[in-house]
Amino acid sequence: MGRRVYAILGDPVSHSLSPAIHNAAFRAAGRKARYEARAVSASECGTTLRRLALRGGGGNVTVPHKERALPFLDRRTEAVAATGACNTFWAEDGAVWGDNTDVAGFQTVWREATAGRAGPLDVLVLGAGGAARAVVAALLGDRRTGRIGLWNRTPERARAVVRHFGSPCAVALADWRSSGADALVNATSAGMNGGPAPVDLRLLAQPPGAVLDLVYGRESTALVRQAKGMGVAATDGRQMLLRQAEASYERWFGEPPPQGVMRCALG
Ligand SMILES: NC(=O)c1ccc[n+]([C@@H]2O[C@H](COP(=O)([O-])OP(=O)(O)OC[C@H]3O[C@@H](n4cnc5c(N)ncnc54)[C@H](OP(=O)(O)O)[C@@H]3O)[C@@H](O)[C@H]2O)c1
Repeated sequence: MGRRVYAILGDPVSHSLSPAIHNAAFRAAGRKARYEARAVSASECGTTLRRLALRGGGGNVTVPHKERALPFLDRRTEAVAATGACNTFWAEDGAVWGDNTDVAGFQTVWREATAGRAGPLDVLVLGAGGAARAVVAALLGDRRTGRIGLWNRTPERARAVVRHFGSPCAVALADWRSSGADALVNATSAGMNGGPAPVDLRLLAQPPGAVLDLVYGRESTALVRQAKGMGVAATDGRQMLLRQAEASYERWFGEPPPQGVMRCALG
């Protein structure tokens, strides 16, 4: 077989760090494979995904196609079923599989950020898109999670997420200002490209014990900067990017990537 092709499918994708980290891992593991960024429209996404997978490769799906990829999958993991979104695809025995490694990625970051802390841990999640669903699914899988409060700029979308996770469960709508959460997770896209933070932490009734921002950029995000300035432990989205990429690689090749290579490529 020739060189296997993997790609990140989305629009825009030119800023993506996924080609750099996956190609570094492919090289280090001596794999005959390459990873590309491909900007695709909604109508091109499904056919491109299936073609890549059925030719022995695979890839990732990113904004705005994570939900649109679902009809093109033959099989889906529990994480896809739980979130209604797919970010990783490949083929096995002629069937195209989809996973959402944002769930496993966030789970790892969450465990690292809260290591040694006993539950119940109350969490405020900002956002109501695919990333927020992945965060909620991951938190629901941790026995230490207490109450999950969800806030979104457009409340109707937050209500849809609460409905999606059904009842009885620990997710409820929240007002970010009155939250006394142990941790705050930014799953909105606010803060991208050096933009302002989604909320002003100084206005919270009580500062959170930790801030996990899914957004990342060349510099640290406004939310992470503010949290650190207030003495609150904070990480940006690079750590999650790394963890979800490791989980994708493992889906494709059945083993973890060579240790430390992806982190090094991330800079
Ligand atoms: N680090 C990682 O590995 C990783 C993984 C997944 C996602 N992410 C990041 O997470 C972010 C969200 O991704 P997604 O897939 O969930 O996107 P999405 O489905 O497009 O949802 C975007 C969310 O951000 C909110 N939002 C956008 N601009 C805002 C603003 N100025 N103030 C407050 N809220 C705002 C939206 O609120 P409305 O509903 O009101 O529009 C919505 O809740 C993106 O920046 C993405 O890059 C990072």
